[in-house]
Amino acid sequence: MIPQQFIDDLLNRIDIVDTIDRHVPLKKAGANYVACCPFHNEKTPSFTVSPTKQFYHCFGCGAHGNSINFLIEYSGLSFVEAVQDLASFIGMPIPESTPELRPDQHTRDSFSQLPQNNQHSDEIALSDLFNALRIAARYYREQLKISEKAITYLRNRGLSGTTAAKFAIGYAPSGWQNLATAFPDYATATTRKILSQAGLIFINEDGKQYDRFRDRIMFPILNAKGQIIGFGGRVLANEEPKYLNSPETTVFEKGRELYNFFSARRAIREADHALVVEGYMDAIALTEHGIDYAVASLGTATTGFHIQKLLRQTDHIIFSFDGDRAGRKAAWRALENSLPLLTDGKLLSFLFLPEEEDPDSFVRKHGKEAFERLLKQAIPLSEFLFKELCAKLDLQTSEGRAKLISETKPLLQQVTAPALSLILLKRLSELSHINPSDLAEILPHKLRQQASPNRRPPRPQPVTPYRWLILMLLHHPDRHNRLHRDSIGAMNESTQEFLALKMLLDFLDQHPHLTRHPPATSLLAHLQESPYRTLLENIESETLKWDDAIDLEAEFSGALEKLQQTQRKKRIAELYSKPLNLLTEEEKRELQQLSSR
Ligand code: UTP
Ligand code: MN
Repeated sequence: MIPQQFIDDLLNRIDIVDTIDRHVPLKKAGANYVACCPFHNEKTPSFTVSPTKQFYHCFGCGAHGNSINFLIEYSGLSFVEAVQDLASFIGMPIPESTPELRPDQHTRDSFSQLPQNNQHSDEIALSDLFNALRIAARYYREQLKISEKAITYLRNRGLSGTTAAKFAIGYAPSGWQNLATAFPDYATATTRKILSQAGLIFINEDGKQYDRFRDRIMFPILNAKGQIIGFGGRVLANEEPKYLNSPETTVFEKGRELYNFFSARRAIREADHALVVEGYMDAIALTEHGIDYAVASLGTATTGFHIQKLLRQTDHIIFSFDGDRAGRKAAWRALENSLPLLTDGKLLSFLFLPEEEDPDSFVRKHGKEAFERLLKQAIPLSEFLFKELCAKLDLQTSEGRAKLISETKPLLQQVTAPALSLILLKRLSELSHINPSDLAEILPHKLRQQASPNRRPPRPQPVTPYRWLILMLLHHPDRHNRLHRDSIGAMNESTQEFLALKMLLDFLDQHPHLTRHPPATSLLAHLQESPYRTLLENIESETLKWDDAIDLEAEFSGALEKLQQTQRKKRIAELYSKPLNLLTEEEKRELQQLSSR
């Protein structure tokens, strides 16, 4: 083991800007340095290096880490080699007493040989989850090669072997404990825990374990770094449920991931548009026919995260949904979630396919050219918005026109892009026969302000107080004493963000020397094996957009205020959920007090 102390000292002494600049020339941009990302193909730099916080983050692909991570990812060094490289660069001798170097986590392969670094804790290391998922995917692929019926199924759906290999499609045979073949330690406590946290098995009340996926075609789902984070599994016959997906895990958040994003990213940049479809098979069939810029949502609505992720690659997103009611509803959700994220120059459009068709069936019948012609007919967001709203109203009547205004209002309020606001306002004026200046009178103050040019939009606040507090702690760990451990310990929350916050506070309590300000290096250097690593990385990256104008005291108070409010609302809801006559006098008083604040 290389002592952690040595690694800390090393990270403190080297400068990440030097480390990276030796390989990828960096340019100064404000407080940070930027370059085109070495981990994915891009034309405008979104790879950002912070000299004060000593980490890098790519807003395009999510790559994130410190100097050691960079050398591992960029130069393909092992952990030990990266440490040696950095140490020799600044002439720091590695301690002699090192009996054995830390096992290299990036080349280990056989799961049974994993040094399972969590024997003493309940938490499974991320690398163990990723490894398990990778080994399972390999097993499913091998099974596909020997299953006549699975191969026939894919052939009948028009898939070539090349495409199946490209998507790493596999097959989970029928039977309840097949994964025992792939994992020699299938039944040991630690492996069971890992497999169950990876969503590959479930454990019933009697403690028996079963494979989650049986007799299904397996579609591995990758994150933006190309790691397998879960699976979709499809039945071969007409059974329910048609698709079974991995559950949400510490590495798999459906609302943040898109199927095929990792592979499509380059094509999206080249085509300069992204296509969002509904199904796994849509994305795959389109690729089979040479349309490789399609991604699929994972059986959930299109979220703001999805849209943001795509808007970092291109300014134009086309949504292709089924022409039925469900498809229009899904499109509407996508519209609602994207309104606050649009800036002028971004274009969202919507394509509705003929009844009974999906992109898969359409492209197979009519081919690439016909599909791309169809894409050109996609309608822009502003048109879709009014088309949907007007469909249920009678604009011949003044009541209908008034209703149109009141229904448009909350949507318009969310738009922060000045030109788009004006376009929508103008269109609303035409449809409602009310002139724009009168409309501006009825519309909320916020909108009118936004319509005025040159106003910098306020920095968006993190959605939950937990996220906000984590952000503050990562940035300024010495403020941890503003948080009362007891009241946080008493909170009954189970979200990832809350658990990560608790973990972080425990960590700081155990490592008081890391709470100095300014932090010598990012705390994340010490949390590489934490199950919350990805979440923390995402949160930390938000500080890269901060400039000197940030008012730390105000931020901290804001976050604490928001935490109290969230807790207050929760308590009110709790009290309200009891019948009034069952509340004790004390609870009634509490309710009154809470509601009057
Ligand atoms: P579709 O039924 O449109 O998917 O559902 P598809 O890929 O076109 O299916 P086939 O193979 O051609 O029949 C769209 C998406 O909704 C999710 C999946 O992510 C699917 O790709 N879904 C659908 C589920 O999660 N579970 C289901 O039972 C059905
Ligand atoms: Mn389909």
